[in-house]
Amino acid sequence: ERLALGFDIGGTKIAAGVVDEDGRVLARRGTETPSTDPMAVLDAISTITEELRSDHHVRAIGIGAAGFVDATGSTVLFSPHLAWRNEPLRDAVARRTRLPVLVDNDANASGWAEWRFGAAQNEPDLVLITLGTGIGGAVVIDGQPYRGRYGLAGEFGHMQVVPDGLPCECGNRGCWEQYASGRVLTRRGREAAASGTELGRRLLDAVGGDPEAVTGRQVTAAAEGGDEEAVAWLADVGDWLGVGIAGLAAALDPGVVVIGGGVSDAGELLLGPAREAFSRTLTGRGYRTEARIVRAHLGPEAGLVGAADMARLTARRRRQAS
Ligand code: BGC
Ligand code: NA
Ligand code: ZN
Repeated sequence: ERLALGFDIGGTKIAAGVVDEDGRVLARRGTETPSTDPMAVLDAISTITEELRSDHHVRAIGIGAAGFVDATGSTVLFSPHLAWRNEPLRDAVARRTRLPVLVDNDANASGWAEWRFGAAQNEPDLVLITLGTGIGGAVVIDGQPYRGRYGLAGEFGHMQVVPDGLPCECGNRGCWEQYASGRVLTRRGREAAASGTELGRRLLDAVGGDPEAVTGRQVTAAAEGGDEEAVAWLADVGDWLGVGIAGLAAALDPGVVVIGGGVSDAGELLLGPAREAFSRTLTGRGYRTEARIVRAHLGPEAGLVGAADMARLTARRRRQAS
């Protein structure tokens, strides 16, 4: 059995696991992302690798990183949510661990996992959208990840949907991820908590009193509990999501669009409004087969599973070639 170690390094969390050939996670670790210091991220990766390696014979490391990864899978060129700028992550981790390392974008890793083992297993193509702190995207075409000429394809979150809209961490304004990601729920939740609305008080109670501790998770829980305002917020995010997916369908015409990431835990509260908005805005409606919009299957582990699988396959290809 050939094992690989997968990492998913997001804006707030690092998740890691030992993954087998069938995409099963045999052991896991997690910690918060030290967001201001690339060195601290390296330290966290090294520590977790040593821990997981002591019990499992891993042969490669795959890292899905929340940022723009170059076409050779070695450097994180830029990250809106983290301190990486031209960070030579692959070689730094390889030097410390003495294992073959592959780096890809976090959403690309999740997309690969959902195509191999999850929601799009029997599809030739997939478009994946992950809704977390930001919006990540992945495209698989005929069983191959599509990376673009320079590695940066699939940065759906930074398509401008509102001219001069809300400022985005990437430096632009009006990016899709400012309207259809978990960040929206967090922002609204904190505002409501600070201003003491009924929902705001409810959210505050759920986190023990600190408005800054409110995240999308509590908003989703409130919506699941029937709170109408929280339901409306999720519907609003779903609406922006559906409009954006219609745009992606105009560009790519996928058979299936997989929605993953923390916000997708809201299930139909999000996907219902998204499907509605998609149908409403899809061009050529009535004269085409519409993409299915489905929830991801692999949950929060998709990124680390996909990263590990890509690393394992790449290491195998290298061995066979030499
Ligand atoms: C980043 C992507 C990343 C996504 C999800 C976006 O803001 O630009 O690279 O995949 O967030 O983490
Ligand atoms: Na991507
Ligand atoms: Zn942006």
